[in-house]
Order: sequence, then structure tokens, then C-alpha cells
Amino acid sequence: MIEIVKLVINGKEHILPVIEGSEGEKAIDIRGLRQETGYITFDPGFGNTGTCRSAITYMDGEKGILRYRGFPIEQLAEHSTFVETAFLLITGELPTRKELTRTSVYLNDFSPLHENMKAFYQNYPPKAHPMGILSAMVNAMRSFYPELIDLEEEMNTTYLRLISKIRTMAAMAYRISQGERVVYPRSDLCYCANFLNMMFDNVVVPYKIDSDLVRALNVFWILHADHEQNCSTTAVRVVGSGKVNIYSTISAGISALWGPLHGGANQAVVNMLEKIYSDGFTVKECLSKAKDKNDPFRLYGFGHRVYKTYDPRAKIMKKICDIALSKMKRKDPLLEIAKRLEDAALNDSYFKEKNLYPNVDFYSGILLRAMGIPVNMFTVMFAIGRLPGWISQWKEDVADPEMRISRPRQIYSGSQKRDYIPIKDRGQSVKQ
Ligand code: CMC
Repeated sequence: MIEIVKLVINGKEHILPVIEGSEGEKAIDIRGLRQETGYITFDPGFGNTGTCRSAITYMDGEKGILRYRGFPIEQLAEHSTFVETAFLLITGELPTRKELTRTSVYLNDFSPLHENMKAFYQNYPPKAHPMGILSAMVNAMRSFYPELIDLEEEMNTTYLRLISKIRTMAAMAYRISQGERVVYPRSDLCYCANFLNMMFDNVVVPYKIDSDLVRALNVFWILHADHEQNCSTTAVRVVGSGKVNIYSTISAGISALWGPLHGGANQAVVNMLEKIYSDGFTVKECLSKAKDKNDPFRLYGFGHRVYKTYDPRAKIMKKICDIALSKMKRKDPLLEIAKRLEDAALNDSYFKEKNLYPNVDFYSGILLRAMGIPVNMFTVMFAIGRLPGWISQWKEDVADPEMRISRPRQIYSGSQKRDYIPIKDRGQSVKQ
């Protein structure tokens, strides 16, 4: 049966078609609404608005389901690697052995950075945030590596260059901010091991690659690789809809990710846990601050626009934290505090009523700390992981015949028409 929706405005009936997704999700198609009725819909934050059809990621926020291209996140986290997952997201299918080898070879070949790009780093102030540097560097790639709009190739050179170089640029930003020499990528190392080596290798104490940490980093990046139409991905689709180049589009995604309500939450969680650990701030105080409507403080790492149950990524992240810390025979007091805080929040009526559960960022900072990643690099780590998702969403968008330039409407609430007053007649302004 074809479903339709009837909308009655001032007694006049309007028929709106219904679109159904492959998992049964339904949308009312309002594309003709304004033209037919003169009305628009009002939905700040797009909580009820579908902006595209997408075959990349499926989420069910009530059941806590997340799948990339149909594959459950739990299976990918257990069996896949970040490079394989990136290939899956961008091309739609898991690679054959030959395709995976070819991708890995290209990722190694493309990893060095243009010498002139390195000079940019020297001019940043020492405390510059690496997210700002990364966003600017990715934008600058457009000038150094003109993009190849070769949509024939599922995994083309531009995508591979981006995925490869973002890792080099991130590690380089960190080394330079520390006043340390730059470590170049090594062709004998895989994607994740190479990153850790570029971050931590030292002339005096050479970095020892630990396979458990490499595995943990693979899982961390797999969990972040895509999350359908979130804030930064929407930024990518909106900016990309103006047909801007892919580097500037991704750079916009990185900027959108930076905020503490989105990718910056992992940094905000660790700052919050450290405050509890060292400043005598108690779990109880933390919860009452988060519940106080007059206080801008939130319980970072909790709540989600889509998940109204435990974020499936947070479950995996918590497990990986426990495994990584116990394998390294390390105890992190912040992990114990996080568990106490989680327990208290899950038993608190405010959080229960509003369905606020831990999200991916609640435990991710603890895992990154265990790897030795400094706090101001946390959101950069998220950005590296999210890159294959941004690329696949951009690629889907530019190939979609239904897509138009993003241009929402508004309800104007300012002054009605009034006449210009010459300055000599204006008197004293009320706003001093
Ligand atoms: N602490 C306290 N109260 C909260 C929180 C929180 N973390 N999250 C939501 N609420 C309250 C909120 O005040 C609102 O209350 P009321 O209905 O009384 O006005 C209610 O719950 C619904 O929240 P909302 O702000 O309307 O939800 P949203 O969908 O607009 O925002 C969110 C989602 C993730 C921005 C929000 O939950 C939040 O700020 N969380 C903390 C930041 C965070 O952890 N962000 C990472 C998200 S996951 C990673 C990613 O993909 O970015």
C-alpha cells in the first residue's frame, strides 16, 4: 500500500507523499510544500528533518544500533582495521585482499608532506590549538595537490591523499607544538603504527610499537569513522553543495567538529574528570551543576540527539579502555571516576527521564590518555577517524541527482518596513 499524508491548512487538503528507507524509516516529502501552500516547516537544529537519502550509515537511536554499509559496528570493531573500514565506507564494499594491499601501498606512498607546507607550522603561536592548524592545513592542500575529480575511481588519489596526509599533518602539528623534531612516515609501518611512531619516536628513546595499542587505535578510529548526518557531516554536505573543492569542504567539517557539543566533547570530558580528581569537585556537585538550567555546564560525554539508549560505540570504548589499561598494567584514576560518574548519572531521575546515556566521548579520552595522546590532540584524533565518513558523504552528495545547493528558509522576526532616519535627526541611542 502506498502511504500518503494529508495536511489540512484552513480547510484545504494537501496530499504529501511518504518516502520509506530500506530499514523502514519514514519521511514526509515536503519538497513541494511552499510552492503549493505558501507554508514552510520550522525545525531548528534539524531534529525532524531528513536532508538526503544515504546508503552509508544506519542508526537506530532507540535500539542502540549502528551499522556502516550494513555491517554492525561491533563486528567491524572486532575484526576490521581502520583502513579496511575506510575503504568500505568510501566504496560501499569490503575490499578484496588485492584492493586492500593496493590501498595500503598508496597510503604509504602519499604520506610525506610537501616541504613548503611544513613551513606553515613554524609561524603558528606555540599554544595554537591543533584543530585550528589542521583545518587550515587541509584547506591549503587544495593549492599543493590540485584535486582530481575522478568519480570513475571508487577509491581515487584525492581521497587516498587526504586520508594519508591528515595523519602526517596531525602528528607534525603535535611535534612542532612541543618544539620537537618532525618524524617522517615509515613505509614499513601500517597506518596506525605509523601515526604512533610519528607522534612519539625519539632519538634518545626510540618508540616501541605495541601491537595492543595499535589495535586499540584501529578500534578508536573505526568507532569514529562515520555517524550519518551529525553536525560536522552536515557542514560537509552544506559546504560541498555549493560545489566547493573537497579540501575546503573537509576543512569546514574539521572546524564544525571542534566544538565541545560535538567532537570537542572528548577533551571536555577529561577536563571534567580531572577537575573531580584534583580540585575536590565531587560527582554529586558535577551532576547538580549539569542539571541546573542556569548553569551552562553539561555532563560532557552524556546525551545524544539520536541515541536514546546506551551509545553502542561507548560500550565498545569502555571495554577497550579496560583491556588497554590492564594490558599496559596501568591504572588510571580517571577511569574509576568515570565509572562512578556513569553509575550515579544512570541512577539519577533527571538523566533517566531525559534518556541521557554515555556517548562515544565519555570513555574515549581515557583510551587516548593511555596511549599518551595529549588532551589538546583528542579532537584531532576524532577528525582523523571521521575523515573517511566525510569523504563518503561528500562523494554520495555530489553524485546524487536529487541534491540542490543547501539553502534553508527562515521565519523573519525583525522590524517591519521603516524609513531611513538621517543621523542628525536620530537623537540619543538607547543602546549605549
Ligand atoms: N548534561 C545535562 N543535561 C543534558 C545533557 C547533558 N550532557 N544533554 C542533554 N541534556 C538535557 C538538555 O538540557 C535538555 O533538557 P530540557 O529538555 O529540560 O531543556 C534535554 O536534555 C534534551 O537535550 P538537548 O540539548 O535538547 O539535546 P540535543 O539533541 O539538542 O543535544 C547533545 C545533544 C549531544 C549536544 C547534548 O546531549 C550535549 O550537550 N551533550 C554533552 C556534549 C557531548 O557529550 N557531546 C558529544 C556528542 S557524541 C559525539 C558526537 O557525535 O559529536
